[in-house]
Amino acid sequence: MKKMLLACFLIMMFIGISFLVMRSVVIERGETEMEILNLPAPRLRGDVSVEETILKRRSVRSFSKTELTKKEISQLVWAGQGITESSTGHRAFPSAGATYPLELYVMNKDGLYHYEPRGHKLKLVRPGDLRSSLNRAALGQAFIAQAPVDIVITAVYERTERRYGERATR
Ligand SMILES: Cc1cc2nc3c(=O)[nH]c(=O)nc-3n(C[C@H](O)[C@H](O)[C@H](O)COP(=O)(O)O)c2cc1C
Repeated sequence: MKKMLLACFLIMMFIGISFLVMRSVVIERGETEMEILNLPAPRLRGDVSVEETILKRRSVRSFSKTELTKKEISQLVWAGQGITESSTGHRAFPSAGATYPLELYVMNKDGLYHYEPRGHKLKLVRPGDLRSSLNRAALGQAFIAQAPVDIVITAVYERTERRYGERATR
């Protein structure tokens, strides 16, 4: 009788563990298909010189309604946070002690995406159009809700603080 009970217990354990493993595989697959946006490789040669770009750069506050293409978004996030040396993970910009405290998010009518420099992809963090909330957070600057794409930059101070203490916030 005891052996029967032990056998039943082991079978139940096996079924339970198999169920959990299968569930996690399904969630991972779902995430890959629905929530990850793989971006095309960025262009590494442009038609406009750095000097001309600096000369012509100006802040603008009215935007075309046309959505940005995946290629254009790829170029922007790569310039903002992209990894330019895969062996070290070093990026397009310098960072104290290579601690890279900044995180980049892309927001459009479909949702809020986090840019993952490793793999050069966007991961959906929250679905839905959040641009009006961002407009309110920016003290009601209407163009933020009207732009087809908003790019949000946040900082994780701890990454730099771990190395530099309070000097990190300077
Ligand atoms: C840290 C920072 C914050 C800014 N915040 C805003 C903002 O909230 N709204 C806005 O319209 N422009 C903002 N600007 C843009 C400045 O107003 C703009 O750079 C300045 O007027 C100079 O104009 P220019 O960028 O065309 O040379 C910001 C710029 C910086 C560097």
